[in-house]
Amino acid sequence: PPPPLPLARGRRRRGRAGRRGISGGTGGGGVDPAAVPGHSGRGTRTGDAMGQTVLLTGGAGYIGSHTFVALRAAGHDAVILDNFSNARGDVPDRLEVITGAPVRVYRGDVRDAALLARIFAENAIGAAIHFAALKAAGESVEKPLDYIDVNLGGLTALLKAMREAGCFRLVFSSSATVYGTPEVLPVPETAPRGYANPYGFTKLACEQILEQVGASDPRWAIATLRYFNPVGAHASALIGEDPQDFPNNLVPFVAEVALGKRAALNVFGDDWPTRDGTGVRDYIHVEDLARGHVMSLGHLIATGQSHTVNLGTGRGYSVLEMLAAYSRAVGRELPHVVAPRRAGDVAEVVADPSKAAALLGFRAEKGVDEMCASSWAFVSRRRNG
Ligand code: NAD
Ligand code: UFG
Repeated sequence: PPPPLPLARGRRRRGRAGRRGISGGTGGGGVDPAAVPGHSGRGTRTGDAMGQTVLLTGGAGYIGSHTFVALRAAGHDAVILDNFSNARGDVPDRLEVITGAPVRVYRGDVRDAALLARIFAENAIGAAIHFAALKAAGESVEKPLDYIDVNLGGLTALLKAMREAGCFRLVFSSSATVYGTPEVLPVPETAPRGYANPYGFTKLACEQILEQVGASDPRWAIATLRYFNPVGAHASALIGEDPQDFPNNLVPFVAEVALGKRAALNVFGDDWPTRDGTGVRDYIHVEDLARGHVMSLGHLIATGQSHTVNLGTGRGYSVLEMLAAYSRAVGRELPHVVAPRRAGDVAEVVADPSKAAALLGFRAEKGVDEMCASSWAFVSRRRNG
């Protein structure tokens, strides 16, 4: 079992019935627990029993929802704060079905200082994982102020609320985007940082804010996790990547081709200096990524030491290789056309995963076939309601 989370200073949980802005999951929501592979049917230990809780900002989103499940499986509890700007309203119900226990959700904005204070007052929070952010690199070029406001304002508000509550353990969602165009492959954490768009700027700025804050007070223990390319979905096929707008990323777009919503994948360039001319990335199964958060949190608790690690597999796949893997999952060849290179793209980004292995004992286990099969199971189930 993981070590117990230390409690925030002097805080006591109060009753939640009837509180404005909080919704305990209602259960059900059209999801039949009996239809969930791997659902135990047993109740899972909750924070009410343990009195210890992890705050997940953006916890209804893609990576946050899978991390919620992984935390529960590891014996932790979690409270979600999400404004549902990029998450479906039924995610909490689905998390209840998967974990077999109530899900506590605060609907609101991570920049809302009063709401954050209330969450810390009402829950014995021992640590936070900060997922909530805007994440579309292309959109950030059109709306830089929105990205600066949500991504920097959200982190700042959370850090202030945590300090006020005496909670000093934080895991932060960073990105391989902070490496810009990597000069060395696979990319080690020591590689120079840069950015190519306002989204990347906000992730780099957040890392730098965390460095300054961490250096200011020894009580802080901060994990900066640089994700490579998360894909796939939970084995239950109840949660997964569910873009509310246009699918900008490769796998969500391929999924829409498989569903028949789009005619063909546009391959952004076949003249890159890679083995087949298409872009190469380090795709990591979202369940592996979620497990990485639990291990990082465990390390923060056990050692009190801040750390920055890559979360990737160390293995790169080209666009055409991923399309072939998805085609295998679907059982037919999915069409593609070659399109011009996308602005801001780079040829290849692959993680050096050795620090995460040495420091946290983390190794990604699932391969691209599992990533694509689980994505397909999720999107085809979602299509059928
Ligand atoms: P996501 O959009 O699915 O999840 C983010 C969640 O935050 C959503 O549920 C959204 O509703 C919520 N949110 C957004 N703004 C909010 C606000 N102001 N207040 C409260 N909630 C808010 O994205 P994701 O893929 O799960 O990404 C999670 C984190 O990981 C983000 O910080 C993202 O930048 C980072 N990241 C993602 C990727 C990726 O490819 N998915 C790669 C690297 C880093
Ligand atoms: N691609 C296509 N067609 C598409 C979409 C993508 O050919 O319709 C190609 C891209 O050119 C690239 C590869 O597929 O070669 C992967 O593209 P994604 O958009 O899925 O992922 P990126 O690596 O470009 O970027 C993602 C996030 C970034 C983040 C980065 C690293 O969008 O915000 O992963 O974490 F910074």
